[in-house]
Amino acid sequence: MTKWSPNSWRNKPIQQVPAYPDLNALAEVEARMATYPPLVFAGEARKLKKQLAAVAEGNGFLLQGGDCAESFAEHGADNIRDFFRAFLQMAVVLTFAGSQPVVKVGRIAGQFAKPRSSDTEAKGDLVLPSYRGDIINGIEFDAASRAPDPARQEMAYRQSAATLNLLRAFAQGGFANLENVHRWMLGFLSDSPQAGRYQALADRITETIDFMRAVGITGESTHALRETDFYTSHEALLLGYEEALTRVDSTSGDWYATSGHMIWIGDRTRQPDHAHVEFCRGIKNPLGLKCGPSLSPDGLIELIDLLNPENEPGRLTLIARFGADKVGDHLPKLIRAVEREGRKVVWSCDPMHGNTITAAGYKTRPFDRILKEVQSFFEVHRAEGTHPGGMHVEMTGKNVTECTGGARAIRDEELQDRYHTHCDPRLNADQALELSFLVAELLKKDRASHPASKVASA
Ligand code: PEP
Ligand code: CO
Repeated sequence: MTKWSPNSWRNKPIQQVPAYPDLNALAEVEARMATYPPLVFAGEARKLKKQLAAVAEGNGFLLQGGDCAESFAEHGADNIRDFFRAFLQMAVVLTFAGSQPVVKVGRIAGQFAKPRSSDTEAKGDLVLPSYRGDIINGIEFDAASRAPDPARQEMAYRQSAATLNLLRAFAQGGFANLENVHRWMLGFLSDSPQAGRYQALADRITETIDFMRAVGITGESTHALRETDFYTSHEALLLGYEEALTRVDSTSGDWYATSGHMIWIGDRTRQPDHAHVEFCRGIKNPLGLKCGPSLSPDGLIELIDLLNPENEPGRLTLIARFGADKVGDHLPKLIRAVEREGRKVVWSCDPMHGNTITAAGYKTRPFDRILKEVQSFFEVHRAEGTHPGGMHVEMTGKNVTECTGGARAIRDEELQDRYHTHCDPRLNADQALELSFLVAELLKKDRASHPASKVASA
């Protein structure tokens, strides 16, 4: 294999590259960004890897979620706060139901670049480059905004820094206090048409918190109740940007992507001999790999050989995104190959990207299909005796109408009311929390059927 360097990907074939009109301007921006401070530290990425290693061993659950595409226009404190609030509620429900730590990773503070199925978009006679995310071009359908502009990379970097700053304050500064999160959850329940179904679990959480308070375990006395670890992630699609933010860690001498704690390879850019795999194999961060229907068991093992040759647990999270009706066909074959070869991975379920349909002129995802894919994912793991290690969702803290269904039964005709996403349809705050209550039921069942689980030796 050829020697890796942060720019060795440039010698490989590559998919999904924007056609920048001015390559000198691009090179100038990249050179400047290479001098900017890192967004995250290597030590944090290592800590996340350690937590994911526990998940790979069967102890813990990865919750990964956020926007499909972050946008410059919607960069406000309210959006970040509302997302974080919804996300923490999901995490508490999953932690309690599974009696296991939940590793919290946002699709945030860097999730800007989007792979597209077509290079161009046509409206009438006008054909323009497709929108590829705010880090590359603008969403408005005119030639000026659709032209890739390298200056956007610096805007994305600065937005990521500001977002991360607020998230760190929220996670460590008291906002994430368990008692707050619990109170928000009760607020959600008091409004939910499905409250009855979730009440028993919520009551048990309430009793547990009351009990802890009674014996003196509160946010004031115990930092674990007051603070939380929260990590960032995004698809490592725009490799010039990633390269500029890739740095040597002075402690270990290893290379780390400092654009986010965890980065993943998308389903369209996972060719083993191409640029995205080349870049990711050389950095030490935890990696995600999207696994869609076109990935064969042998193809998966080949990718694992490249991305995790030392079989380090926590290094690689396989994010299965087949679609509700395909997961039962595809997932068992991949799990068996991984088990046969003794590879240590986290298995996570992305129930979004295989379940996109068009309704009333909008790209949408029916809540029932999303839930069904997660249920099938758990069933397959139960049958194979492996650990359903996580869930990866597109969600927002806002009350959008982008996915249909859920307890409030959003109908096709309502999609137009608050359809705000720049790319794929997201679960709104209620749908996201509802999904986690339903997944909580699956986690509880899973714990009941593996009471000792693989945890015993940990
Ligand atoms: C995404 O996560 O937004 C995405 C494009 O996913 P995938 O690569 O699985 O299609
Ligand atoms: Co998406």
